[in-house]
Amino acid sequence: MSGSSSRLKECSPSRILILFALILLTFPHSFAQSHPSAKALLKQMTLEEKIAQLSQLPGFPLPEFVQQMGNPEDALRKYGAGSVLWVSDPKEMNRWQHIAVDESRLHIPVIFGLDVIHGYHTIFPSPIAMASSWDPKMVEAAQAIAAREARSAGIAWTFAPMLDIARDARWGRMVEGAGEDPYLGAAIARAQVLGFQGKQSGDPDHVLACAKHFAGYGAADGGRDYDSSYIPEEEMWNVYLPPFKAAADAGVATFMSAYMDLNDVPATGNRWLLHDVLRDTWNFKGFVVSDANAVHSLIIHGYARDGEDAAFKAFSAGVNMDMASGTYLKYLADEVKSGRVSMQQIDDAVLPILEAKIRLGLFEHPYVDESRMNQVLNDPHSPEVARNAVQRSVVLLRNEQNLLPLDKSNIKSIAVIGPLADTKDDLLDMWGDLNKPGPAITILQGIKDKVGSRIQVEFAHGPNIQRDIPSMFENTPMFTIKEQPKQTSEEAHQAFEDAVAVARRSDVAVLVLGEIALMSGESASRSSLKLSGGQEQLLEAVAATGKPVVLVLINGRPLNISWASEHVPAILEAWYPGNQGGNGIADILFGDANPAGHLPVSWPRSAGSEPLYYNHNLTQNPEDAPKFTSRYWDRPSTPLYPFGYGLSYTTFAYDNLKLNQTAAKVGATLDVSVDVANTGNRAGDTVAQLYIHQRAGSASRPVRQLKGFQRITLAPGAKQTLHFKLGPDELQFWSPTKKKWVVEPEQFDVWVGDNSQTKLHSEFLLTQ
Ligand code: BGC
Repeated sequence: MSGSSSRLKECSPSRILILFALILLTFPHSFAQSHPSAKALLKQMTLEEKIAQLSQLPGFPLPEFVQQMGNPEDALRKYGAGSVLWVSDPKEMNRWQHIAVDESRLHIPVIFGLDVIHGYHTIFPSPIAMASSWDPKMVEAAQAIAAREARSAGIAWTFAPMLDIARDARWGRMVEGAGEDPYLGAAIARAQVLGFQGKQSGDPDHVLACAKHFAGYGAADGGRDYDSSYIPEEEMWNVYLPPFKAAADAGVATFMSAYMDLNDVPATGNRWLLHDVLRDTWNFKGFVVSDANAVHSLIIHGYARDGEDAAFKAFSAGVNMDMASGTYLKYLADEVKSGRVSMQQIDDAVLPILEAKIRLGLFEHPYVDESRMNQVLNDPHSPEVARNAVQRSVVLLRNEQNLLPLDKSNIKSIAVIGPLADTKDDLLDMWGDLNKPGPAITILQGIKDKVGSRIQVEFAHGPNIQRDIPSMFENTPMFTIKEQPKQTSEEAHQAFEDAVAVARRSDVAVLVLGEIALMSGESASRSSLKLSGGQEQLLEAVAATGKPVVLVLINGRPLNISWASEHVPAILEAWYPGNQGGNGIADILFGDANPAGHLPVSWPRSAGSEPLYYNHNLTQNPEDAPKFTSRYWDRPSTPLYPFGYGLSYTTFAYDNLKLNQTAAKVGATLDVSVDVANTGNRAGDTVAQLYIHQRAGSASRPVRQLKGFQRITLAPGAKQTLHFKLGPDELQFWSPTKKKWVVEPEQFDVWVGDNSQTKLHSEFLLTQ
């Protein structure tokens, strides 16, 4: 260091200038932060051109848009646009970009945005699965590949990560997020933002990330998608906002406002959220896009009088960009002319969008280079990362008498049964299907490839699964995914009988059941969590053959598997595992990988238990009280499997929980240590989880709260001492009585173990 600074002193000013110019040429992105040309560009723009930058156009003639503004391409030609979404064919993208760059007056390129949620070509496990890995490094690496692939294909902005806390499995979008916990949610949020954006938003080979849906969408009444959320302020701060705050701290470039009413004010018109929290408290400097058509929907909510009022309310709440509704394009200029919106406000909203385009280098490279894209999409390393992600995400829920891993030397025939055993699209979930997915390996294929010709593998599909009300995505232009065909009752009956017969003549049956992709995700809420379409009956009939049964679940939310949890010896939760699903699951089934996924949600016994979450408050009569307990009288209200739960092919012992201080002052940071040993005879991973409970205070506190975790690998017989920090960040909460963040001088409990019901306990006192 000292040598280089003294050499710098010897340089003449002109040499320093040349050096600086060279650095600028080599690393243009590092200096684009507040690029002067964004302001210069803004000065040249007419009001209409500015408003066009505040508009995101649908990449096809979306009827809602056309009704307001006519053909989206014409709108682009006339004034340009901030962004275009839902186009992913490179030729089509280049055509749209040429209109923006060649035909609009100022030649400002558009940002192409798309839902690259868990992969573009290499499809990784769904977000709920990746969260089950409790492995932020793996998640970051996966999203970095997703970003690189998407960017090579011209997508510079992903509408991810989805950060909605989900405490109700009836809500279909649980699959898109990291589950029910704010601490785990924040860690996974951070990892995703870093993976998507790289070190700084605008990095080449990366995309802009978008923290969505801001905020409270997961608390929809009754788990019904889009329904109102009623969330008290303390619950917003303590539960729903932390993942978003983590994304903001990690430098996320954009936020998306949610669809639903939050405490009677739609999120897309909610100034408290978009201004007071996001800009004033968190100092967010990027831009906010609405969810699709959400600006116009303010009228349907009964919040805005008409289109003009909707444009005004969304814009003045803090939505920079109107996704696909055309409401800003149609009405915002009038709002400026009438004086309700100032030109300064418009400029402030446009500037971060132009800056993002500059940082992304879109002015220099607006078009997709298909040969580079093909090279990136065919990187042989990516499927390996995806396969590893599957191995790390799968959760082993039950394994009686160590049925798993299956021993190839003991088996001559395997029955692979079920409507999800040989489907490709369903492994990818709805968003995985949207992009340009690479070839998927089905579970059947994965098993066949694994066992070779020595073991006979026989497949039976069983009855088809269907939604009672078809998904709105089945016939939407950009989705190709379909439901399984309708069957007559005779066909379904025959398929059922064939499947049971295959099980009867095999040594072991692997049943692959759950939900087709269109059963979870957006607009996919359910009132029941049962295995639908005759799957439960099929499972029971196959189990009745007396053959050993392994149940592999493909689904986006916990399902009602109460019967299976008592009668089926081995259960693997694979979620939607992506296009390496078949390989990764076969690796687990035959012991080439040892499962260590842990649940990011509490697993209910039935839909009647929802909403269900481990970090609830104590009642006056908890479930284990002698009488008047707060439980259902017809079944336990406790989860079937608790938050944080997951088995392994080996066993672990947690012991020797120690605190470096048992009394400390508010503001201190304590060290918590624990010994973890692998007590089995296989190498494996465990996820050590630290929970706390504050015994009294200015508000009732949850029975337990996750405040630290580490996923570690241990060889058989190996032992490791882990350390966790407990400081003000972990011990604080937003108090409803004090209306602020507090750390209180109280008695605290601490537990460490491998799920949220762990018993290994210690305690400490915080004093003033
Ligand atoms: C979804 C968003 C998504 C957007 C764009 C909406 O329907 O709610 O999550 O990003 O569409 O595809």
